Amino acid sequence: MSDRFKSSSGKPYSEDKWLENHHAIKSRLRAELVQKIDLRAGDSVLDLGCGTGSWTFLIADRVGHRGSVDAIDLDEAALEAAELKRHSHHHRDRVNFDQLSVFDLREEHKYDAITAFNSLCYIDRPEVALSVVRHALKPGGRFIVKDSDLGSDFFWPVDRGLYFSLMTAIQERGSIANDDYYDPFFARQLPKLLTECGFVHLDTLAQSFSFVHPVDQHQRTYIAENGRMISDRTAAIGERQLAAQWSTLFDDMSENCIFDSPEFLYTMTEFVFQARTPSS
Ligand SMILES: C[S@@+](CC[C@H](N)C(=O)[O-])C[C@H]1O[C@@H](n2cnc3c(N)ncnc32)[C@H](O)[C@@H]1O
Repeated sequence: MSDRFKSSSGKPYSEDKWLENHHAIKSRLRAELVQKIDLRAGDSVLDLGCGTGSWTFLIADRVGHRGSVDAIDLDEAALEAAELKRHSHHHRDRVNFDQLSVFDLREEHKYDAITAFNSLCYIDRPEVALSVVRHALKPGGRFIVKDSDLGSDFFWPVDRGLYFSLMTAIQERGSIANDDYYDPFFARQLPKLLTECGFVHLDTLAQSFSFVHPVDQHQRTYIAENGRMISDRTAAIGERQLAAQWSTLFDDMSENCIFDSPEFLYTMTEFVFQARTPSS
């Protein structure tokens, strides 16, 4: 895993600059998505694993001046960046950031809704986290969770045989590599996990992002790092040759680099699952 995008608490893809770049290239569609999810004016919301607060402020706008958002994360640097944004935000008095793990959440405050955007896949006991979430929601409270799944990524032009060898290797042996807990195949597990944890009325939304030639520098950074995640994980399980072959595809200095190909296409999907706690 590239260290460049590790947060101060050691989580991959959680460093504040990475989160901001990621948010900037998807911001329009993210703003649209927040309008479609099951949040309502006046809701009290907990944003779990808020990072730099990119979603937190979209949520605050959605729930409006009668609503409120508490946002928690482990990461000090990301929270500092979030706090800076809060000072100039028009809903600053209704948004509150706290350095707290989901596992330390106190249950005396019950929320109308809890959101977890790209954060549950970093938690190595998701069923325990889901139980905490469930108890922090009011009866009939809504949980909105968004995660991706590497199985839905499409890179082109690449050798599909190479791609399937990498995917098979990661799926069989390396979905959870080293101590950087991150499950790249997490979204597919969510429907079953949510049901097993007692959530009801499961509903889904999906949002796909596609990038075609020519891609700008921000998009390259984002896509190259998603590509490198695959080679890092493959290397971590000892498949160094496969990993080396794959990583040249995203290396600007390599003749195999795919970014300047007129055929270039990268698509990834984010899955949103919405569910409720039973009403009584
Ligand atoms: C990829 S970032 C996503 C941040 C933000 N939701 C976004 O989409 O921009 C994942 C975040 O989950 C946080 N996280 C991981 N485990 C956590 C835990 N147990 N409790 C709270 N936050 C956690 C990480 O610190 C990191 O900031």
